[in-house]
Amino acid sequence: MNFASDNVTGASPEIIAAIAAANHGPAMPYGADEITRRLEQRFAEVFEHEVAVFPVATGTAANTLALACLTPVYGAVYCHEEAHIATDECGAPEFFTGGAKLVTCPGEHGKLTPEILAPRIVGAGVVHNVQPAAISITQETEAGTVYRPAEIAALSALARQHALALHMDGARFANAVAGLGCAPADLTWRAGVDALSFGATKNGALAAEAVLFFDPKRAESFGYRRKRAGHLLSKQRFVAAQLEAYLTDDLWLRNARHANAMAARLGSGLAALPGARLLHPVEGNEVFVEFGDRAIERLAAAGFGFYRWGEAPIIRLVTAFDTASEAVESFLRVAGEALGGVTKR
Ligand SMILES: Cc1ncc(COP(=O)(O)O)c(C=O)c1O
Repeated sequence: MNFASDNVTGASPEIIAAIAAANHGPAMPYGADEITRRLEQRFAEVFEHEVAVFPVATGTAANTLALACLTPVYGAVYCHEEAHIATDECGAPEFFTGGAKLVTCPGEHGKLTPEILAPRIVGAGVVHNVQPAAISITQETEAGTVYRPAEIAALSALARQHALALHMDGARFANAVAGLGCAPADLTWRAGVDALSFGATKNGALAAEAVLFFDPKRAESFGYRRKRAGHLLSKQRFVAAQLEAYLTDDLWLRNARHANAMAARLGSGLAALPGARLLHPVEGNEVFVEFGDRAIERLAAAGFGFYRWGEAPIIRLVTAFDTASEAVESFLRVAGEALGGVTKR
């Protein structure tokens, strides 16, 4: 009954089993192990492209270390004003890039567009200005929407025009792939993404993310930056084991499909209630809904976990690989009662 975040979940049994299976005998440390070696190959198959893979333990490390490879210390990184890197990483992107500036931009439903970005990409060659260096987008977005391949390609075309790199925060990348039903390649390198923070923790891993570079040249300094940041794990085999299990038998997509289906049911159920308004299309595993304050209090009193989103009577509901459909139906029932029990026609 806790819809606060996909971080409130445990881990998939397959992931726990993979960690246990990796716990036999010695293995070379710091990524020189057999599982890490296999993982590179596995990611290359999934993405249909040569890829440099760097496991880390948190999404913040993935984002900030990836960005540090894509911008000089005097660079500008363009991102949405609600981007996790801008709002929820405690200044880590600025710290790990050595002082690059995050230039935050508005955008409907959590998305950036070339029209929004183009007039803001200014100052190249002007000694007084930060130098345009990278665009960072989030997939699925912080509003629970997803970028289509053509939308990413349009941003990438703008990036190329200004010699910028394109980074994707894919903390919920699996939900986007599952939601769109397209190939991982279509949402990344084929659309012009240079570096991807590939999330797994929110979707069934215990603590595992990976930074993927589709052009190994961009990754040259990553190893040093990761070590310097304290993110080169000596027993990396256990992180690699989680990622390997995550990619095995499509666990990552099966988990995400379930989470998305639960969110879709929540979204359609709530949209049918009078007094409830969805703020964004439900395209992944997050639902943003505006209720009256009294209804929010009723739901909280009934024991449902969720976050209020800002000052307005808006709540965010996040589903996950282990969300029970009974919990969703029970939430909809209580929400319906709190809002007067009438269904919109
Ligand atoms: C969009 C997004 N990016 C990245 C992260 C990763 O954060 P953490 O450093 O907590 O793993 C999160 C987690 O909430 C997120 O929502």
